[in-house]
Amino acid sequence: MIENEVAVLDYGSQYSQLIVRRVRELGFASHLYPPSELARLEKPGAVILSGGPRSTSEVDAPDVDFEKLMSLGVPVLGVCYGMQLLNIKHGGSVRPGVTREYGPARLVVRQAARLFEGISHESRIWMSHSDTVADLPEGTEVIATNEDAVPVALRFGESCWGIQFHPEVTHSHEGKEILNNFLTRSGATLAPFDIQAFKARMLDEIRDQVGSREVVCGVSGGVDSTVLAVLLHRAGVQVRCIYIDTGLMRKGETAEVVEQFAEVGVPIEVVDASEAFLSALKGVTDPEAKRRIIGDLFVDQFWGVAADVQLLAQGTLYPDVIESASSGSIASKIKTHHNRVDRILELQRQGKVLEPLAELFKDEVRALGESLGIPHRALWRHPFPGPGLAVRVPGEITPERLETTREADAIFIHELRRTGWYDRVWQAYAALLPVKTVGVKGDERSYEAAVSLRAVISEDAMTADWVELPPDLLRSVSNKILNSVNGVNRVLYDISTKPPASIEWE
Ligand code: XMP
Repeated sequence: MIENEVAVLDYGSQYSQLIVRRVRELGFASHLYPPSELARLEKPGAVILSGGPRSTSEVDAPDVDFEKLMSLGVPVLGVCYGMQLLNIKHGGSVRPGVTREYGPARLVVRQAARLFEGISHESRIWMSHSDTVADLPEGTEVIATNEDAVPVALRFGESCWGIQFHPEVTHSHEGKEILNNFLTRSGATLAPFDIQAFKARMLDEIRDQVGSREVVCGVSGGVDSTVLAVLLHRAGVQVRCIYIDTGLMRKGETAEVVEQFAEVGVPIEVVDASEAFLSALKGVTDPEAKRRIIGDLFVDQFWGVAADVQLLAQGTLYPDVIESASSGSIASKIKTHHNRVDRILELQRQGKVLEPLAELFKDEVRALGESLGIPHRALWRHPFPGPGLAVRVPGEITPERLETTREADAIFIHELRRTGWYDRVWQAYAALLPVKTVGVKGDERSYEAAVSLRAVISEDAMTADWVELPPDLLRSVSNKILNSVNGVNRVLYDISTKPPASIEWE
């Protein structure tokens, strides 16, 4: 551990890692530990006990080594379950709840307290609990309540507090300020968050976990797998980075990915499987069938080259862990077809899956990537779906239709980059519609394809809004596509929000 870091003890709340992230955002080193690790913590600067789904009244409820905690002599904050645990340990009691209070509530500050300095007298907070404190330990002060006068913030001792609400979620409007007060007004001596130290620790952990085994890592050119591959390479462990060209990539993409990795000095193996993909997709128009074919083939190709893998590294991020959606993993390439991930589950059971980014959020991955010397262009690349252009070419996928899409897409993306809009949108692309519409070429009527442009902003891809690109930009993209892409006589701009539309076409 880093001396004077903020140790967050994880009692199982889905927000535990979010506390660590907030502390880091506030500029201090922090790390998440299982409560059992407390015994081994030498010199934390402060300790935060997280929330958790259990009830302190359960027989085997997660506990805290209270003697050890107090012997550290550092400021302590208990959040939700953490507060109830501290209340019991100090000699009070907790009443098991019958229903769960979940959602917004009001924090009413009842006493001048360091924790609430600069905080509104009444502040909106976020609750998620069922048990409540019953008897308070002697000498404990109620420093804030909810609007019904139920205690929601307690001061147990000079620098030991408990709060019933979650300051780490943005729904608690002044939550970050409250955490900041805890960190800066409690008398704690804290180590600053330092990306170099953070990186060094990750590299050490990877070396420990991998030992002399060989790691296989699938790379796509996307942010997560790129950071993962460079991290593994810098750790000095034996690593094979495999890139599968499905033939469904954008214009010049494979060459760009190869160059990107060459720039950071990481060798990758390129498997050109485009023929296999294109012939398997011939004549297929059903979106689900396409996805299944691509997912199966991808996995087959991957295992084909990584046959006897000793360790598989995946770029799973924290939001994937809590939603178990694994966006950076092979599993997400499949989505609708799960039995092919059995192999990964089996490896997981054998402890052969390595997920070094699993405690990080996307922006932290980018910061780490920057400190690893990965170019801005790679770190801020728009997300690109596993099935590639297939989800942007509704109808049959043919080499010709892919080519048309690639050309139109390249023009759009080039113009977005040229005008500085690329970094301002979350994702943008051109899709090719499966219709031919009438137009005029010379004096003749012609029937040619329509291209649809889409540019969205989003935070997590769950919802998205279309971007009001300047008319001049759209006009120039449209002119360029109509003038230089064969077989296209119509360009549309997609103004659909998600929901009800999705970001991709299929
Ligand atoms: P949708 O179209 O569902 O897309 O609104 C949300 C985000 O997910 C990406 N996407 C995929 N990513 N495999 C992936 O790895 C897929 O099958 C897939 N489908 C959509 C999409 O690009 C967007 O960022």
